[in-house]
Formats: sequence, structure tokens, C-alpha cells
Amino acid sequence: MIKNICCIGAGYVGGPTMAVIALKCPEIKITVVDKNPDKIYDWNGPINNLPVYEPGLADIVKEVRGKNLFFSDDIAGNIEKAEMIFMAVNTPTKTEGEGAGMAADLKYIEACAKDIAKYSKSDKIVIEKSTLPVKTAEKIKEILLENSNGIHFEILSNPEFLAEGTAIQDLFKSDRVLIGGDSSESGQEAVKALSEIYNRWIPKSKILTTNVWSSELSKLASNAMLAQRISSINSLSALCEKTGADISEISTAIGMDHRIGPHFLRASVAFGGSCFQKDILNLAYLCQFYGLNEVAEYWHQVVKINDYQKNRFVQKIIDFFNGDVESKNISIVGWSFKRGTKDTRESPSILVASRLLVLGAEIVVIDPLVDKERVNLDINEWLTNYGLSNEESNKLLTKIKLSRSFDNSNSELISIIHDINSLESEKLKSNNIPIIKI
Ligand code: NAI
Repeated sequence: MIKNICCIGAGYVGGPTMAVIALKCPEIKITVVDKNPDKIYDWNGPINNLPVYEPGLADIVKEVRGKNLFFSDDIAGNIEKAEMIFMAVNTPTKTEGEGAGMAADLKYIEACAKDIAKYSKSDKIVIEKSTLPVKTAEKIKEILLENSNGIHFEILSNPEFLAEGTAIQDLFKSDRVLIGGDSSESGQEAVKALSEIYNRWIPKSKILTTNVWSSELSKLASNAMLAQRISSINSLSALCEKTGADISEISTAIGMDHRIGPHFLRASVAFGGSCFQKDILNLAYLCQFYGLNEVAEYWHQVVKINDYQKNRFVQKIIDFFNGDVESKNISIVGWSFKRGTKDTRESPSILVASRLLVLGAEIVVIDPLVDKERVNLDINEWLTNYGLSNEESNKLLTKIKLSRSFDNSNSELISIIHDINSLESEKLKSNNIPIIKI
């Protein structure tokens, strides 16, 4: 019977996932640890200023924090006490070394595994919650074995499928929970222990158990398939604009086919977020590694269309002003990568705004959740990668403003990046300012 859980990584996945497990399993003590003490401080701080915003999350944290959910920077002590350890650390794309720009950077997960080996004094079930390349469990096992003193570690893969903006709803009513484990007796016991936790609120029929490699690869494949649908519909939006067909009508028509279904068929400026791009690049890298170059190229194309679509959108704005956006006042609706979250990682708005700023435009960002400091950091990073000096970047940053709602009548064009509802759409239209969207 599991009594103590430790989750390493208090981010978008670790925080909400552990909050829900704590709510559903009041007799299990759960401690979320992170190497970033500021994040832990914020998780323990005012309930309306948690590091992650998700509808419903604050209410759960309010209910369980200090009872059976704890946030701590004592990584060693909490690893030692736990019988089950989740690894929910970030796995970004590598920026240097072999596989740079494609492969997942496993340095955080490796550091995690080293800590687990170092501080464990009893047997543990170690769970991969982060999204990882297939066969990572083998590497983790090696690290654990090398550094442990005869302690038994059982490694499970339990990828997370929540979507930001609906994380709590997704965790309450998961389409499926995937648990990959070893076929050995101890492997199956560990699978059972984790299944029993989820089974408190997820029906058995939705808890899928597989081997470790299938579980690891299912997560990458799942994100690749979702992103592929977005790039498919976005590629067709370009053809619609040339031919006079209407992409929203096409989406409805396609989605009514029960073999295709309606989800993820809405054309947009591009997908963003911390996962889709990095997971597809990682998948393509794995294919290349195994000599499957055609397969790698197939998936890589999903990312290429995504980049194409972002730049196509910028070009539409430039064309609207007949090639010259200098001193033009342009509003951008939506800064986070999607509505309902303040996460801006890989948001298409960053490229759109930065490119326009470089061309001399003045920008008003309209976003209800993201703060100005974040907007500045995002732009500054883009401009630095583009080759601008600090001084040049700072000058351009004076040309961007943030507004919580649309109130900028000086705007000459409103470019829509977030999904907006019909009410907001009517409100924007009533300003009689031209609107550009995909
Ligand atoms: P995040 O960046 O929000 O959080 C990761 C946390 O881990 C950070 O707070 C970081 O300080 C901490 N960390 C890193 N190395 C550490 C170490 N050695 N010891 C202690 N703490 C450490 O990342 P996020 O978004 O929660 O993603 C985590 C994983 O989950 C990634 O692999 C991601 O692909 C996957 N995922 C993310 C989803 C999302 O919507 N954000 C959805 C499903 C999966």
C-alpha cells in the first residue's frame, strides 16, 4: 500500500496532477519538490497567485494543501521517504551537442534519476511522467543501478495527456490512463500499485497497461497525430485563400465524417505550447536514428507547415499595408499559446509580433492573463536569437503595449491569434477596424 508519494517537478504537469491525486487519495501524503525554490514558495503562497493557472486548480489546492499535499524544496528528504516517485521534469529540445534542434534534452531527467539513486534508502517505484523518447527507461535503469546500493527500483512509464487550459477536467475524466511496465512479477506489482491509485476515480476500462516502450512511444505518437491534424487543416487554409473556398466550411464538412471526427480541425495561425513541436522533432529524430529517413521527413513536415503558417500570417499583415508596416498600429489578440492559459511557450504571437516590430510596427497585445514582463522576455529572446543587440531590443520593446481587453481605438488592424467567441467577435467588429485572421 502506497503511503508516501514524491513528485519531482512542480510545473504544469507536476502541480495539477499531484493536486488531483491528493484530492482523490486523502490517505496518501504527496510532496511535490522542485529545484527552483521560488516556484515552491509560490505554490505555498496566496491561492490566487499559484505558478500555474488552470480553471479549478486553485480550489483543489486550497482544499488539500497542508493536509496531504505539500510543496517543498527538500528533494533529498522527500525522495528518501517516498515509496513512489514521479518524475515530471521538463524535457525540452536539445540546443547543443548530438541531436541539437531535434532530440529531447534528457539532462533534467538524468539529474532526477541520479538524485533518486543517491538519496534512496529503500525500494522505490519510479514513474516517468515526463514525455520521453522511447527506450529512456533503459537509460534511467542504468543510472539507478550504477548509483544504487542494492536497492530495487521498478520503472514505469505513465505519460500525461492533459491539455493546458483544461488540465483539471482532463485529469478528472481522462480518456485513458496509460501505464507501461515490465512483464516481471515486480514490474506487474508496480503496475498494479499505480493502477489502484488511478482507479479511485478512473474506471478500470480506461486504464491501459502496456509494455514500457509502447507507453513511451504512445505519448509521442499521440501528440504527433494531434499536431498533424492542425498542420493538415492549416495547409488547406492556404489553398482556401487562393481559391475562395472557406476553411471553416471545409472543417465542418470534413469533421462530419465519423471516420475523421470534428476535433483539432480548426484552422489557426499555428499550434504552440511546450509540447507539440518538441515531441514531433523528437519523434523525427528517433526515426532518423533508426534509419527511417522517409518516416522522419513525414513527421518533420508537420513542424515545417506550422512554421510556414506563422510566416504566412505575418505576410498577410504586411500585404494588408501594401508592404510597409512602419509606424502602423497593430493589435494582436492573444499572447499565450492558447486561450485560457498564461503559458506562452512557443506561442505563435511571439514570432508574429517580433517580426512586425523589426519592420517598424507598433503593437498592442491583448491578453487577459499574461503579464507585460513575460511579453517582454519572450520578445527579447526572439530578438536576441535574430541577432539584435540588447540596446536594439530595448528600443523595440518600447513599441509594444499590453492591454487586458480591447480598448485601443488607434489600431489600424486587429490580428487574431487566439480563438475568440462570437460575442468577442461582435465586439471587435463593432469597432469598424479591419480584422485579419486565419
Ligand atoms: P515545467 O517546465 O512547467 O516544469 C518542470 C519543472 O521541473 C520545473 O519547475 C523545473 O524547475 C523542475 N526541474 C527540472 N529538473 C529538476 C530536477 N533535477 N530536480 C527538481 N526539479 C527539477 O514542465 P511541464 O510543462 O510540467 O512538463 C513536464 C513534462 O511533462 C515534459 O516532459 C512535458 O513534455 C510533459 N507534458 C507537458 C504537458 C503540458 O501541457 N505542459 C502535457 C503533457 C506532458
